[in-house]
Amino acid sequence: MPVSSVARGHWVFGVVAVAAVAAACAEPREGTPTLAAFDEAAWAPPREADIPADSLGASIKRGLYLLRFTPESLPAYAPGGMRCTSCHQEDGLKATAAPLTGSHSRFPKYMPRSGAVVTLADRVNYCITRSLAGSVLPVGSREMTDILAYFAFISRDVPVGAKMAGANGLIAMKDTLVGDAARGKAKYETTCVVCHQVDGAGNGAIPPLWGPRSYSIGASMSREERAASFISHNMPQTAPGTLTAQESFDLAAYVNSQPRPDSPGKENDWPMGGAPKDVPYATKGHEPYRAPATLVPRARPADAIVPNPRSARGDKGTK
Ligand code: HEC
Ligand code: HEC
Repeated sequence: MPVSSVARGHWVFGVVAVAAVAAACAEPREGTPTLAAFDEAAWAPPREADIPADSLGASIKRGLYLLRFTPESLPAYAPGGMRCTSCHQEDGLKATAAPLTGSHSRFPKYMPRSGAVVTLADRVNYCITRSLAGSVLPVGSREMTDILAYFAFISRDVPVGAKMAGANGLIAMKDTLVGDAARGKAKYETTCVVCHQVDGAGNGAIPPLWGPRSYSIGASMSREERAASFISHNMPQTAPGTLTAQESFDLAAYVNSQPRPDSPGKENDWPMGGAPKDVPYATKGHEPYRAPATLVPRARPADAIVPNPRSARGDKGTK
């Protein structure tokens, strides 16, 4: 029985009785799930050295190495120059770089970009097809299972539903500024070229920022505010935190104005509308924001689309 109707029924007996009934109703009944208190400050993800020496441990370790050496391990699925840890720095543990700690406890979840409730495996495939400009990794493959085993490992003791820092990806920029690509180019030449190169193609362990081997237009990093957040908190690699918010937006505007792989099916994102302002391509009710002049076509476009599960409330596109 709802507290309010119980309370109303006992009102005549006075405030004390109401309080007692309300307190009794607030007690969790047997079988009622409650969210365990989670002390994030006291929690730390387990490390590579904590991986157990058994079959599950072998899978977890393989998952970790797939994150670190993605194109070398999965050349058919990630043929470009990006690895998962190019963005999810420090093996997915770094708080300012879209941390993957706790991810196992956050899915399935509703993603406005998909207009659907998606699984963690689908979410991995979004990054493979968009952030790595690769091909869908079969769900149920050894490799996908290993990646998920690693995520479960670094989510140990995080309760389902816990609201952790980083649960929404990159930290939202307090000032949502507008970047100036010309100023960004000048800053790039003094601050970033040494590692990411004049042509943005990177070098060895340095990932590409643009060109055919970089992230696609459908990646979150292609949004000016998302890229500005990553740059502001994590770059330059040797001195993170030294750029102003405006410089980070300028750099993001310059980097995201450069050619990069296309993302097939991107026009179907945000099927209910409501795309963030800085999405660089057209979606329902949304005009492209500063689209790069050139997009590199994908070799196997059909393999770059993660099919959305149908909505439980009807057809795809029904919230
Ligand atoms: C170009 C950068 C980039 C690369 C490379 C990348 N990701 Fe991501 N990923 C992101 C960003 C950014 C987010 C968060 C979205 C946001 O902030 O809007 C994210 C989110 C995720 C999430 C969702 C986390 C959560 O709890 O919501 C998972 C899982 C994930 N990535 C897995 C991977 C895997 C696995 C790889 C490698 C196959 C990978 N990512 C490669 C940028 C990247
Ligand atoms: C000392 C070398 C170095 C410098 C300087 C540097 N980066 Fe990076 N950058 C890296 C490395 C290495 C990574 C991959 C992440 C990792 O391994 O921790 C990276 C990753 C990135 C990424 C995400 C991955 C990708 O390829 O898109 C962006 C965006 C980025 N850097 C932008 C910049 C910008 C903008 C500057 C200049 C302000 C800059 N970086 C300066 C080394 C550097």
